[in-house]
Amino acid sequence: MEFKDIEARLEELKARSQQAELGGGVERIERQHKAGKLTARERLALLLDPGSFTELDKLVTHRCHDFGMEKLRIPGDGVVTGYGTIDGRQVFVFAQDFTFVGGTLSTGHAQKICKIMDLAMKVGAPVIGLNDSGGARIQEGVASLAGYAEIFLRNTLASGVIPQLSAIMGPCAGGAVYSPALTDFIVMVKETSYMFITGPEVIKAVTHEEVGFNELGGAMTHNIKSGVAHLAADTEEECLFLLRELLSFLPQNNAEDPPVRPCTDPVDRTEERLRTVVPVNPNKPYDIKELITAVVDDRYFFEIQPLFAQNIVIGFARLNGRPVGIVANQPNYLAGTLDINSSIKAARFVRFCDAFNIPLVTFVDVPGFLPGTAQEYGGIIKHGAKLLYAYCEATVPKVTVITRKAYGGAYDVMSSKHIRGDINYAYPTAEIAVMGPEAAVGIIFRRELEAAADPQQVREEKAAEYREKFANPYVAAELGYIDAVIDPMETRPHLIRALEMLRNKRDTNPPKKHGNIPL
Ligand code: HXC
Repeated sequence: MEFKDIEARLEELKARSQQAELGGGVERIERQHKAGKLTARERLALLLDPGSFTELDKLVTHRCHDFGMEKLRIPGDGVVTGYGTIDGRQVFVFAQDFTFVGGTLSTGHAQKICKIMDLAMKVGAPVIGLNDSGGARIQEGVASLAGYAEIFLRNTLASGVIPQLSAIMGPCAGGAVYSPALTDFIVMVKETSYMFITGPEVIKAVTHEEVGFNELGGAMTHNIKSGVAHLAADTEEECLFLLRELLSFLPQNNAEDPPVRPCTDPVDRTEERLRTVVPVNPNKPYDIKELITAVVDDRYFFEIQPLFAQNIVIGFARLNGRPVGIVANQPNYLAGTLDINSSIKAARFVRFCDAFNIPLVTFVDVPGFLPGTAQEYGGIIKHGAKLLYAYCEATVPKVTVITRKAYGGAYDVMSSKHIRGDINYAYPTAEIAVMGPEAAVGIIFRRELEAAADPQQVREEKAAEYREKFANPYVAAELGYIDAVIDPMETRPHLIRALEMLRNKRDTNPPKKHGNIPL
């Protein structure tokens, strides 16, 4: 009997490997490029540090014998999986290959994704998924649905243990959207990606609405309207860059602290400009992002969900080289009121930061919750409670700066001392009260106003009296609810000193299976 020599065996390995690397073939790769999309392997090459990718399961094939699938068996099965590094830190990755059966999910394809997720959990490293898929591979029937469910389970168990990031770089339809939705952040590419549960045709048949792919589930729809996505990129290259950038703020897992960078921005840097960023007239808007960028290292603020619920601003920055999560009311938009969308947006962010040991810095300028039937019928009570719950539950260092208004329930919600805010500062322009002067006078002096010969004069007098008494930070400071009233120009040094002091903070919640956040 003759045995094949090693050269012949290596040739066979090479041939199989080359076949896997071609995915759906040259013609499909060209079609992918023509559609303005990169291939799975090209994307991984841009995402990961050069030469760092180690592929697993390159030779996995599907096992389907129905509808002619037995003739269409290519190693890899429509997804490239493995591990590599980003800025030298280990990550696990999967990239769906649209050139092979539309990147659809078969049993083998799902098992490949599950394998790298299991490894990521064992070693405590992030998972990044590059999604580009027609969803469940229809020819595999329920086996494909089972594959999705296996992934959903792992997404859920990994939630809060390792960071999970999703890029949507093509279609993402049907139940397939739920895996990205279970992850921490979703970045979409404009024009070439979309996410929806039911597509335009089904919608037309059922509700008679006519809507295109992009309008229904494109990057801008999910970044502006639904809040499903967190960032929108103009190109695939930018999308992959955003993932790398996002990761630079995050620890490898929930048992680690976020990575520290050398800081060249002076820790004692003061900013004279901050004395005038907040207008003394409480009714004048201003851009809270001016304040944020003036304070953080190198003025670099990586904003999350910049296009959704703009009345609250969230994102990552560094103070003395250490990542922080920033939450700030935005007086430039809806006067910085809290509404349903902004509460949900900020609550999820606060919980993410808390899960991954990222201290929270909160800037408060909030006149209250947005009034109206749309908000009440939409459940602002339970959605606002989400943010309250998230802040109450968070045990990471929490430093708060009240720049101007902190009225009513919104004062309590926004990381107040009473819900375990560690250090709470206020500017001299702060107004900490149950409500604004005009509204307060209308209620507590209603009878006097009704009886007055000149109600307007009485209203103005009483409002001035109320403002003098309550629309300042000193009542709260006298009660110890505010630790210090600070000169705005010294915000950066104050924040850095507070966070330094809190570096080894330990706080816990009562043991429980899990809380019951008002979902
Ligand atoms: C099997 C599929 C497929 C699928 C696409 N293909 N989707 N094969 N199962 N779900 C195949 C196509 O037949 C085609 O093969 C190739 O992939 C490329 O698809 P095209 O249609 O040529 O590409 P394009 O015009 O770019 O359109 C892409 C698409 C469209 C928008 C994704 O293919 C589409 O609408 N597919 C169905 C999407 C869908 O309804 N998925 C939900 C499945 S149910 P050939 O060989 O002809 O080129 C689901 C439930 C998950 O996902 C449940 C989890 C709980």
